[in-house]
Parts: sequence; C-alpha cells; structure tokens
Amino acid sequence: MRVANNPPADGRLAVFLPGLGAVATTMIAGVMLARKGKGVPVGSLTQLGTMQIGAGDDGAPSPYVRDFAPLASLDKLDFAAWDIFPEDAYASAKHAGVLRDEHLDLVREELAAIKPMKGAFYPEYVKRLHGTHVKRGATKANLVEQLRADIRETLKAKGASRGVAVWTGSTEVYTQPGPVHETIAEFEAGLRRNDPGITNSQLYAWAFLKERIPFANGSPNLTVDFPAALQLAREMRVAVGGKDFKTGQTLMKTVLAPALKARLLGVRGWYSTNILGNRDGEVLDDADSFRAKEVSKLGVLETILEPEANPELYGKLVHKVRIDYYPPRGDDKEGWDNIDLFGWMGYQMQLKLNFLCKDSILAAPIVLDIALLMDFAQRRGRHGIQDWLSFFFKSPQHEVSELPVHDLFAQERLLKNTLRALVEEHAAAQDSDVRLPWAI
Ligand SMILES: NC(=O)c1ccc[n+]([C@@H]2O[C@H](COP(=O)([O-])OP(=O)(O)OC[C@H]3O[C@@H](n4cnc5c(N)ncnc54)[C@H](O)[C@@H]3O)[C@@H](O)[C@H]2O)c1
Repeated sequence: MRVANNPPADGRLAVFLPGLGAVATTMIAGVMLARKGKGVPVGSLTQLGTMQIGAGDDGAPSPYVRDFAPLASLDKLDFAAWDIFPEDAYASAKHAGVLRDEHLDLVREELAAIKPMKGAFYPEYVKRLHGTHVKRGATKANLVEQLRADIRETLKAKGASRGVAVWTGSTEVYTQPGPVHETIAEFEAGLRRNDPGITNSQLYAWAFLKERIPFANGSPNLTVDFPAALQLAREMRVAVGGKDFKTGQTLMKTVLAPALKARLLGVRGWYSTNILGNRDGEVLDDADSFRAKEVSKLGVLETILEPEANPELYGKLVHKVRIDYYPPRGDDKEGWDNIDLFGWMGYQMQLKLNFLCKDSILAAPIVLDIALLMDFAQRRGRHGIQDWLSFFFKSPQHEVSELPVHDLFAQERLLKNTLRALVEEHAAAQDSDVRLPWAI
C-alpha cells in the first residue's frame, strides 16, 4: 500500500561505504542474497518493519515500511567503497569470517567486483592498522579533492542518479572538537595546512558534504559531528547523522533501563563488559580508540535514568564499560551485564545478562536502513542532523540545544512518526498544490 502522491524513487542509488570490513561486506552480501531470494533481511526495519495506518481497527493489514514510504528498492542499489587494504568485498568478507561459504559462494562474483578505492588515511588516527592501499597527497585538502573525484566518477560509472554514504570504517582515536572545527573557513584552512585536529573520517565527511551526498556515521568518531560540518550541511542542504551503530549491549541497555525506570526501581551499579575478536576489536584494543567507544557507550544510562530528577533511585549510579580484544571469538562478540538494582525499602537485587551475539549480523541491517532512510530524508528536502534516525545509534547526534533520545521505544516512535509525516505532508502538498518548504 502506497500513500497517494508518493511516487517511487527514480534511478539508481550509489551507496558509498568508507571502510570495506566486516560490517560493510556483511551488509552488501546480504542485500545481494536478498535480491536473489536466497536470504531474508532479518533485523531490517525498512524491509520487514510495518506501519500502522489509522486506528488499526478496520482490519486492513499494516503495510511494510518499504511500501508505505517510497524508499529505494534493493535492486536499485549499487555499492562503492574505500579501504586502506586492497582486498575486494569477497576477500574482505572471507577475512571477516562472518558469513559462511554457503552464502558467500552464491554472490561471489558480484562481491569480488566491488574493489575498494584507495583510502584517505593518516595512521595516527587508527594506530593498530598499517594500511597499504592509501592515497598520496601533500595536504589534507588534496585528499578531500581526490575523494570528491572518486564520488563523481563512481556516480557516473554506475549511472546513479544520487548517492548516500555511511561510515563503516574503523573507530579512530578519541578527539574533541577544537578551533579548527568551528567554522567552514577555519576547517578549510586547516585542510590546507594539514592541521592534526582533522581526522581521516572528517576528510570523507567534507568530501560528501561538498558533493551533497547525505552522510551518516556508524562509528563513535567525530566524523560529521562538529560545528563546521553542520554549518556546511546546512549551507549545502545535506542530511547528516550518527553516531555509532546501536547493536548489542547498548541495544539491550536502552530497553532494560527504561523498564527499570518505568517501575521506579533503583540502580546502584551497571557493569558491562565484552569480548570481541574481529578487526574492530583489535582497533579498540588501542586505549585511544577505546576511549572514543567508551564515551559513546557511557552516555546512554544517565540520559534515560535522569539521576537529577530521581536522586534516591539513580543518584549514586556507577556505570562501567569494558571491551577486551580476544581473537578466538572473531566476530562472535559476547557481552555481559551485571546490574545492581534495588526495590521496596532499598532491598538489593541483581540482574545478569549474557548476550552471545554476532556483531556484524546485528550491524548489517542497520547500515541498510540508515542508507535508505537518509536517502529518503534528503529527497524530501531534509538537511542537517536527522535525529529521527536516533533509533539506529548508540550516541545519537543532536543539536547542542537539545537532549538525545536513547530509549529504544521512544526512538522507534520518533522514527515512525517522522516517516509518516514525510509521506503524508508530501502527499498533502501535492494534492493542494501548496508546496511545503521540505516537499520536493
Ligand atoms: N556491531 C558492530 O559491528 C558495530 C557496532 C557499532 C559500531 N561499529 C563500528 O562500525 C565500524 C566498522 O566495524 P567493522 O566490524 O566492520 O570493522 P572492520 O575493522 O572489520 O572494518 C573497518 C574497515 O575500515 C577500514 N578503514 C580504516 N580506516 C579507513 C580509512 N581512513 N579509509 C578507508 N577505510 C578505512 C579498515 O581497513 C577496515 O577494513 C567500526 O568503527 C565499528 O566501531 C560496529
């Protein structure tokens, strides 16, 4: 069921992925399998989610999200990536060891045809990787120009009418915005003088924004979360979003914490630890990269539990997060949570959660959903931070004047209400011939 006056997306969509590692290849291979009817896109809100229409009591079936909103269909997607290692998507997927041969072999040729473009990479921002497939250039400004040329050439070569980008590259060392991140002019001067405050992922961000490609960040990096980038996004009218895919432990945290809060149960401590053996785990073994992840993971509880509003229940909360690189597990991340809670008259209880998950299996559908929804937002004229996509992120990017939404179900409501508004407002504008500012 499609809402009237919402024609389907025209043309092909190039999905740009800086970082062709475990998450990116698992997503790409899954889309290829789903297109052939050889796999089900489990976990994808755009592919399997439904929308309730009206009061829901007229017996009409709820339409799929992908039918309700004119999202790009899977057969209209083309993938393009950059990496600092030259392996094609098939070789990289084999290396990642997430999908088994019985699946990879069905799409082997298509995957092998995706060869990464050379990455823009300065090793000081990802200390554990020693990339060989990297661009050369005297300045960071020159690398941005090379990335922009890659984007334009890819769109042309694929015959794509538009592009969308999701950062699936490594977590970088923890940085904070400095003076170079304040304005467009200062950032561009910084690019020309190789300012050390400008990280690899920010070079991609600048290139995407300049090329008007909507861009979301799946890592905890600052990538597109600094004032100059937001200024440029507004100026170029580009949709942006992030940060850090919400997949395993934080997903569970943002479900459990609202439940404890709804029941007014107190929380004294929340200790979370993980073991992980993939390349992401290796990168996070570096203390500076781990710090970026830690900050992203820590923000969640305070925002949900609001200790200042409920000091008797949450005022003494101790929240700790650890990740240990443990190679034998590969992509099979194991997370443990110990929650020290208390109830009536302060009596103590404990809750233990042990999640044996597959990191990239949880992240892949999120990358697909973000790409399709960011593209839709951009087509509807939305620009700047797309906080309605907070559902997908551990550390949702938000305007400084606003608080992030972390509660998973509040995020789901926000997403679906915005989607409904984007579809219905567009239809109304077409009907009445009155063009709303965001209608295209
Ligand atoms: N569940 C999850 O898997 C999950 C959850 C949240 C966030 N993330 C984030 O998603 C990102 C990808 O995770 P992954 O498991 O695929 O990691 P990965 O290590 O398998 O892949 C990352 C790839 O990025 C490449 N890379 C690094 N710097 C680059 C650059 N400057 N240009 C181009 N390529 C570059 C690396 O060579 C590597 O191939 C990481 O930042 C991770 O923290 C993953």
